[in-house]
Order: sequence, then C-alpha cells, then structure tokens
Amino acid sequence: MSDFDTVLVVDFGAQYAQLIARRVRECSVYSEIVPSTMPVEEMLKRNPKAIILSGGPSSVYAEGAPAVPAGLFETGLPTFGICYGFQAMALALGGEVKRTDIAEYGGTPLAVVDEGVLFAGLPAALSVWMSHGDSVAAAPEGFAVTAATEVTPVAAMEDTERGLYGVQFHPEVLHSEHGQDVLRRFLYEAAGCRPSWTMLNIVEDAVTAVAEQIGPTGRAICGLSGGVDSAVAAAIVQRAIGDRLTCVFVDHGLLRKGEAEQVEKDFVAATGVQLHVVDAADRFLTALVGVVDPEEKRKIIGREFIRVFEAAAREISAHEQVDFLVQGTLYPDVVESGGGTGTANIKSHHNVGGLPDDLRFTLVEPLRWLFKDEVRRAGLELGLPAAIVGRQPFPGPGLGIRIIGEVTRDRLDILREADAIAREELSRADLDGHIWQCPVVLLADVRSVGVQGDGRTYGHPVVLRPVTSEDAMTADWARVPYDVLARISTRITNEVREINRVTLDVTSKPPGTIEWE
Ligand code: XMP
Repeated sequence: MSDFDTVLVVDFGAQYAQLIARRVRECSVYSEIVPSTMPVEEMLKRNPKAIILSGGPSSVYAEGAPAVPAGLFETGLPTFGICYGFQAMALALGGEVKRTDIAEYGGTPLAVVDEGVLFAGLPAALSVWMSHGDSVAAAPEGFAVTAATEVTPVAAMEDTERGLYGVQFHPEVLHSEHGQDVLRRFLYEAAGCRPSWTMLNIVEDAVTAVAEQIGPTGRAICGLSGGVDSAVAAAIVQRAIGDRLTCVFVDHGLLRKGEAEQVEKDFVAATGVQLHVVDAADRFLTALVGVVDPEEKRKIIGREFIRVFEAAAREISAHEQVDFLVQGTLYPDVVESGGGTGTANIKSHHNVGGLPDDLRFTLVEPLRWLFKDEVRRAGLELGLPAAIVGRQPFPGPGLGIRIIGEVTRDRLDILREADAIAREELSRADLDGHIWQCPVVLLADVRSVGVQGDGRTYGHPVVLRPVTSEDAMTADWARVPYDVLARISTRITNEVREINRVTLDVTSKPPGTIEWE
C-alpha cells in the first residue's frame, strides 16, 4: 500500500462525519469514519496521523449523548473538534459548556480574535455556518480563544502545545467562508499531514488490493449496468487480473439512447475488458406486458435481471471455475449500513442478493473506500469514456419507471428520443455540473389536444424533472434558464412526433421524490 497519512473522523452523527471525511480527502489526505464508540486502542491500530471529532445532532448534556472516547486526549494525537466535537472536547477537558437560550443557526459573522494556527492568513471577519444550541462559555485551561461571535464568546480555541483545536462552526459546509482553509490548516500545519491521497495512488492501491484478494489464478465476474460505479470497479479489476475477469452486460432494453453502445463499444475499447452481452430486451418487455403498478414493475425487472444474470454466470462458470463477484459498493453505503471501518467486519463469504446457493461468490468491492466524486476521478484516471464517468445517477429499473403506464417498445423509443434531446441541450448549456439529474418522464396514459403543423394532434406529455442535490436524499428543482427550457421544449415537440406537450416539475424532495414512477 502507498504510504498514506490517515485521519480518523470520529462519528457523532453520520451525515456530518461523511461530509468532513470528503473535505479531508479533498485536501488529498486519506480519511476514514469511525464510530464514537470505538475504543482508542482500536483507533491507534489504524496508525492515525490526526483525529477529527465530528458534529452531531445531540446536546452534550442530553441523556446518552456520545462522549469523546476515553483516553483520546492522552494519545498526543493532533485533534480537531467541530461543533458537537468541539463542545465535547471543551467539556472533557474542564471547560464550561452552557445551555444558552440563544441558538445560532445558519450564516453567522465570526470575529477572529487571535489568528493562531487555524486562522493564520485568513480575514479577521468571516461568515460561518452555525447550528447549535449549547455554547462553550469558557475554554479549558491551556487553550487560547481564537474566535468569537456576538453570542458565543468561545467560537474557536486551540492549545498548540497539546495539538488540540476546536471550532463551533462547520468548516466542512460550503457556506462557511474559508472553511476548507481552516480544515487544510489543521491537517497540514497543526497535524503535519502530507497530501499523498492522489488519484494515481488510489487507483494503484485498489489494483494491488484486488490482485492480492483474487490471487494469481482466481477468476471473477462483474455485472455492468452502464453506470459509473460498476464501470470503474470493473476497470480496476481488469487492471488487476486481466482476462480472468469477465463482465456481463444485461441489456434489458430500458437504458437511455446510446448507453448500451457506450458499454459494448466504448468501455470495451477503453479497458480491453472481456464482455459477455445478453440481449434480453424481448424477455423484459414480455414480462412487463400489461403491468402499470410501479412496485410490480420494479419487482419484475429485478427478478428478470437476477435470472438473466444467473444464467450468464452459470454459462461462464461452466467453462472455468469463477469464485469472485465484483460489486461497485461505495463508502457511503458501507458507512450507512454500519459496516464503516468500525467494529463490523467486511463480509467476505456470502451469497449475493438473490443468487442461488450453488452460485456462491466471494465479493470483490474495489470502491468500498471511495466517495462518488473519487470514483469519477478514478474513472478518468483509468481512461474510461467521459460519458460513462460523468453519467447522471440512473435507476436500475431504468426507463421502465419513467413511463407512467404500461411499458412498451414504442413508448420506450419515444421516451429515449425525448430524453436524449433534454440531455443534449442541458450539456450544451453547460449545466451538467449544476444539475444532479434530470429524469424525463413519459405520461403514457395521458393524452391532450395540440396543434402541430396544420393538424390537430392528440399526443402525450413529457415531464422534465431537473433537480439539484448533494446526495439524492433531499433535492430541489433546478432553476434551469428559460431559454434552455424553451430549446428543449421546441426540439422535443418538433422532433418527437408523439409528444405535443413538455411540462416542468417544480417540486422539491421532500415532498416529491426525484423519480416519478
Ligand atoms: P427517489 O425517486 O427515491 O430517487 O427520490 C433517489 C435516487 O435514487 C435513484 N433511484 C435508483 N437507483 N436503483 C438505483 O440504482 C433503483 O431502483 C433506483 N430508484 C431510484 C434515483 O434516480 C435518484 O437518484
């Protein structure tokens, strides 16, 4: 393994910890999330260079509020407390944390009173993101108070002698001015971390780890979905074991325009991967005849997918023993399923989602330490096609759940054309970086009167659903400029004969989900 410095982010509330870990990695320093219940000896086994105590939803005085792991401050490791982590640090070291009546939420002016290590070279007045009820009223002995707000006398503190630092605000949030600089100063100046977590190292390490896991003769299969995760996972495994990997691409006929070709031609050309294609569109369409209910569609598509994949796996295994199955599991899934790097073990031998007992595989998960943006960068490093690396999130059941009503070949063709136009125009307007995803939905059971050319039409509407989001858990409708919407609408109604109306979904999530189904 490359010689990375590791920073452990102690998790006092998952969503905060993940964002911090991502920001640390954006400073090219490797970070892992560990539960706050992890004993300090366990943490030390990971040889951390520094510790960050995350924010969290509780008050330090709440019943069952998570405490700083016992003995942490005696390790001599540079430690940075953020929000809850800052208060927990202050409390543990003899400072005073008060329940105040005045809570601070949102953008708050911060006055730097002593630039110390964390604020050196930054403006003396910053707007930072706050979210707290309790406040540190007095810093523990040995700490210098470095910043304050109108209502929080101790908004930042540091004890450079002991290597302990804390801030009340959230430096990881983009709304905090110079937040990333504060974090970077902790990592580089206070903790002496080196920026060694680079894409080249990440890819090389992942390749080495896979080669070790599979060994010199083992064989693996990998299902490709057309999306970025499975493509990058497959490319890493291909680098590690070459032709001993066989990829399986089940073309269920529910992909968007050009996506099957991207996998079958561009991905293969870029990686040299051995690809087994199953053209199963007819089978899926037959199974979906007459089905309108979205849950039923999902069940049928999932069931057929497993059956087709299983048949392909059996066929490949008939020629040679295959022991490993590659999956594109990402770090957030690992953390959220409680696996993390904590005490839960990496599952080694187990049966994968619905495959029968005689098809037992050991999982290979080359992305389980990576965030999505890192996966995309790794994909670029591996030379994968930009269209695959930059692909918007796309549901497994594909266009099947973006047709409201029965799924038929004709309807799929109509939706594919409309969707391709929307994607093309959004890219042309340079909005790909701004938009999380933009489902185009065909209201196949709705018709309305229109007039196209000289004639009256009775066509279908489509819905454009462009959203902005950080993680798809919440989303807002994207404010796409009117002229871009106008171009999309004009082109769709001109070029796709069956569509005579284009509508825009202006609902956030919640209450609306991203997909219509
Ligand atoms: P919703 O519609 O629940 O979608 O707001 C949240 C995100 O999940 C994607 N999605 C799926 N992804 N398999 C997937 O891999 C699925 O079955 C599936 N259903 C929804 C959706 O596109 C959005 O990004």
